[in-house]
Amino acid sequence: MAKTCLITGASSGLGKATASLYASKGWQVYAVARSADKLAELAAKHDNVKPVSLDVTDSVALASWATALPDGQTFDVVILNAGTCEYVDVADLDLAAFERTFAVNVQGVVCCTRYLLPLLNKGQRPTLAIVSSMSHFFPFTRAEAYGASKAAVAYFADSLRVDLADTDINVCLIEPGFIDTPLTRQNDFDMPFLMDVTVAANRILDGISAGKSRLRFPRRLSFILKTLSLLPYGLRNKLASKMRQ
Ligand SMILES: NC(=O)c1ccc[n+]([C@@H]2O[C@H](COP(=O)([O-])OP(=O)(O)OC[C@H]3O[C@@H](n4cnc5c(N)ncnc54)[C@H](OP(=O)(O)O)[C@@H]3O)[C@@H](O)[C@H]2O)c1
Repeated sequence: MAKTCLITGASSGLGKATASLYASKGWQVYAVARSADKLAELAAKHDNVKPVSLDVTDSVALASWATALPDGQTFDVVILNAGTCEYVDVADLDLAAFERTFAVNVQGVVCCTRYLLPLLNKGQRPTLAIVSSMSHFFPFTRAEAYGASKAAVAYFADSLRVDLADTDINVCLIEPGFIDTPLTRQNDFDMPFLMDVTVAANRILDGISAGKSRLRFPRRLSFILKTLSLLPYGLRNKLASKMRQ
């Protein structure tokens, strides 16, 4: 029987590429996002993609969708990828931008975990993957909302892994660098080692299949940012301020 995967944020970018890749490998894919039209386009290309039009921040809708699934429906892989990015201006901190960012990137992940964790195919080494970002490795300008939200979900994933250690569920934390998607096409700054979205989707599929608990790509950017984070605090802060100009 085909394995089953659920991916949030599957209407665009990384989620869409990952959903297409799993579908092309013969998996049954539940593609979750708000844009029903984009999901329908994806489903039209793959017989084995089920479009699920849901807002990941709507816990009531998520709960009722999960409850309405047929008895015995389980997922071998769940990838919580839906996310948003807004840059903020410190001179006039936009509280609504923080609320929107944290609602999707943090609360959305927690909400999905709440209702999808019980549906993982226990006994068959299922994976719950959570998409964070490398942005939280280093303090970047105007990233107070986005970087903080991604630090929060990274912690959430690591903490969840501790509490699920007695189960066979693999919690996989995914920390990408810059991937070429509609989200990054809005950026007006240089994005070192920008990665093709299909290459990134392959890293996700291969890493999850190999049972990895953490995925970071591209490796060169991860190495640079992790090295910078080892610098003495004062030096690191000076460097971060220089990058702002
Ligand atoms: N691109 C990068 O360089 C990069 C780097 C590091 C991490 N990431 C992370 O990777 C993930 C995917 O990003 P992307 O670059 O592929 O962005 P994207 O092209 O903008 O896609 C974002 C996806 O999230 C969905 N989404 C947003 N809010 C939602 C909500 N409330 N409920 C359900 N779905 C929602 C969107 O679908 P609808 O609008 O149809 O709902 C869309 O499918 C995000 O978590 C992002 O932070 C990306």
